[in-house]
Amino acid sequence: MKSSAKTDSAAAPSETKKNGKALVVYFSASGNTAKVAGTLASAIGADIRELKPAQPYTSHDLDYNSPGTRATVEQKDDAARPQLAGAIGDLNQYDTIYIGYPIWWGIAPRIIYTFVEAADLSGKKVVPFCTSGGGGMGASGESLAAAARGRGNWVHGQEFSAGASASQLKAWAEKL
Ligand SMILES: Cc1cc2nc3c(=O)[nH]c(=O)nc-3n(C[C@H](O)[C@H](O)[C@H](O)COP(=O)(O)O)c2cc1C
Repeated sequence: MKSSAKTDSAAAPSETKKNGKALVVYFSASGNTAKVAGTLASAIGADIRELKPAQPYTSHDLDYNSPGTRATVEQKDDAARPQLAGAIGDLNQYDTIYIGYPIWWGIAPRIIYTFVEAADLSGKKVVPFCTSGGGGMGASGESLAAAARGRGNWVHGQEFSAGASASQLKAWAEKL
């Protein structure tokens, strides 16, 4: 008993033992979420993957003050699923998937729905996180969990500022 416990702890550092191998996937239009994702991945030793839209968003697309612009039209359309530029990639090796995004019109950008519907999240812990202009997470994670149709063990997640520190993000990840 004693020797097998020793072998386990030698094989895996504490956060790896708790959450397994982790991947941080994120979408970021203006860099804030990218900063948090990068700090988080390096703080916890996770892999990182950016979700890129097949058709990049221009600054006009992102102008939420004009009703007909792309991001606003997509966000108001429950069925909008903007295409990803590349394949989802293999998620088999990961036990925990962090999903980072900016809040757009109170929820995650529709491209995140494209990801959660296409990715096989079964059996994985899924942890949403966001940046926002002050609105916070809201029910954005719960809405994504519903889109994943029962795949993944979703936790509520958290909002961070772009300048969130490595120690703040690590402490949060360790408590999940
Ligand atoms: C189309 C659009 C809609 C937005 N809607 C909201 C919103 O509903 N609530 C909010 O707090 N911030 C909103 N924001 C602000 C972003 O969430 C915030 O600037 C975020 O940090 C951007 O992240 P990024 O730099 O990773 O793209 C919106 C921004 C855009 C471009």
